[in-house]
Amino acid sequence: MPVISFANQKGGVGKTTTSINLASALAEKGRRVLIVDLDPQGNSTVSLGYDRKDVFISIYEVLIEGMNPQSAVFPTVQDGLFIIPANENLPGAEVLLVDKPNRMHLLAAALSVIRSQYDFIFIDCPPSLGILTLNGLTASDSVLITLQPEFLALEGLTQLLKTIDLVREQLNPSLDIAGVLLTMYDSRTRLTREVETEVRSFFKGKTTVFKTVIPRNVRIAEAPSHGLPVTIYARRSPGAMAYRDLAEEVLYVTETRTGQGFESPDTSDRTAGIENTVGGAGKGTDLVDGDTRLPDSPESPPAPV
Ligand SMILES: Nc1ncnc2c1ncn2[C@@H]1O[C@H](COP(=O)(O)OP(=O)(O)OP(=O)(O)O)[C@@H](O)[C@H]1O
Ligand SMILES: [Mg+2]
Repeated sequence: MPVISFANQKGGVGKTTTSINLASALAEKGRRVLIVDLDPQGNSTVSLGYDRKDVFISIYEVLIEGMNPQSAVFPTVQDGLFIIPANENLPGAEVLLVDKPNRMHLLAAALSVIRSQYDFIFIDCPPSLGILTLNGLTASDSVLITLQPEFLALEGLTQLLKTIDLVREQLNPSLDIAGVLLTMYDSRTRLTREVETEVRSFFKGKTTVFKTVIPRNVRIAEAPSHGLPVTIYARRSPGAMAYRDLAEEVLYVTETRTGQGFESPDTSDRTAGIENTVGGAGKGTDLVDGDTRLPDSPESPPAPV
């Protein structure tokens, strides 16, 4: 029952779209999937048909008020797909979390109560590397990184990969990278194909780059305004089919390696490579609190909910 974060501090790279549609495709295949909307923008909540104003029990109440996570789980239009939504309180959560003891482990503690009920839990993180995203990464077995094949696509990854390394060192030693997914892919442009080649050779032998790519497809962009995953809104569209292919690939990776989870890549070369490429800061610099270390150590046990 992997817990997977969809994280990238870069905005608009398909985190929410992929978490919803991959989750829906997995649910179509009979898996029980829970999406946690950890983004104050509430995009996955809205995209699955909920109005943030009407949500009274959300991830905010779970994290800040210690509410039982089970009471925050809502059904969706897709059988087997559930959501812990975001509401209009969530934008205030980062500030309130700063003073909480064990603040980086609150989501991990909450999910530990319910994770055995789901085949997958997906965490849709905000486009930042603040406390909410760190809670997501601390609660996860792995991160799925979505990437738009555009100029300088790899440069934007530097900070994310460094953050993943810091989380491994200080909060969650077993955090893996589930894989890198190319999305909004336009095979007609030479740039897309060139960036794809660059990304695949860059990660070769270290981190899975999914064979499936998600095409740029207008049905994918339309579906959220109808409150539906594209797998329901336009069942036979290229976008829906691509997310079903991705679901097959994810199932292959997770279910053929029983008990192993995702592969644990050696990221040391990769990180060095990226830092050399873009002249990034050295390892060990904390990205959240300046030069101080992250305040919670991995030894801190999750707080009971
Ligand atoms: N394959 C696609 N084809 C066409 N449009 C897409 C595709 N994937 C995503 N989009 C659109 O691109 C926009 C950004 O996607 P999305 O919201 O999933 O990104 P995000 O990384 O979650 O953004 P944020 O960082 O703001 O949370 C949305 O309007 C979405 O509908
Ligand atoms: Mg999003």
